[in-house]
Amino acid sequence: MSDVLIAPSVLAADFAVLGEQVREAELAGADWFHIDVMDGHFVPAISFGAPVVRGIRGVTSLPLDVHLMIDSVDSQLEAFVSAGANSITVHVEAISDPAATLRKIRELGVRPGLTLRPTTSVDEVLPYLDLIDILLVMTVEPGLGGQELLPEMLPRIELLSGRLRQIPGESILVVDGGLNESTITQAVSAGAQVIVAGSAVFGATDGISAALARLRVLTSV
Ligand code: DX5
Ligand code: ZN
Repeated sequence: MSDVLIAPSVLAADFAVLGEQVREAELAGADWFHIDVMDGHFVPAISFGAPVVRGIRGVTSLPLDVHLMIDSVDSQLEAFVSAGANSITVHVEAISDPAATLRKIRELGVRPGLTLRPTTSVDEVLPYLDLIDILLVMTVEPGLGGQELLPEMLPRIELLSGRLRQIPGESILVVDGGLNESTITQAVSAGAQVIVAGSAVFGATDGISAALARLRVLTSV
C-alpha cells in the first residue's frame, strides 16, 4: 500500500456547500485539506482568508495546510494559526527573511512550509530545508486552479525530493498544480509524498468520492 497522501484543494469546491464537500472528501479518505489563500497582490486573484479556514476547521479534524499566496505574510500568521491551520506554507518570493518567518511559524505551534513559483530558482529554497516540515513544489504558476501541470517541474521534484531526504527529520514533499489522473503517477514517481488536487477532486462530474478513489488507486502503483 502506498503512503502517498492526497490533499484536496478547497479552492475548487462549491463554496455554497463548502462544509458538505469537505465532509464528503474526509469520508472518502482525503488525508489533508489544502487551502489556497490569495490576496490580489502576490497573485492577481483574491480567494478567501482566515474566517473560511475557521469554518473548515469546524467541520473536519484532518490537517489543514494553508498555502499563503499573499504579500504581507508576517502580519497574517497569527490569524491563520488561530483559525485552525496545522501547517502554513509560504512563498519564498513573498518574504524578506525566510528563516525568521519559518521560525515564527514553528513558534506559533504549527508546521512551517516553504514553496516557490515555477520561475524561481531552487537555489532560493535550498538554504532553508532544515527549517521546514513541508516543501511545496508548484507545478503551475500560482493563482489559479484548473491549469495544466508544467512537465519541466518533474526534474525539480526529483531534485528537491533527493535534497529533502538528506536532511534529518520528517520533512515532506508536496506537489501542487495540475494533478489529475493523467499526471499524478509522474509526480509520485518523481518523489511527491503529498498530492494536492483541486479540480480533479471537486470538479469531477461523477463526484468527490469517485474522484478520490480513482486518484488513490493511481498513487498505489
Ligand atoms: C494554484 C493553487 C493550487 C490549486 C490547484 O495557485 O496553489 O492549490 O488549487 O488546483 P488544480 O488541482 O485544479 O490545479
Ligand atoms: Zn495551493
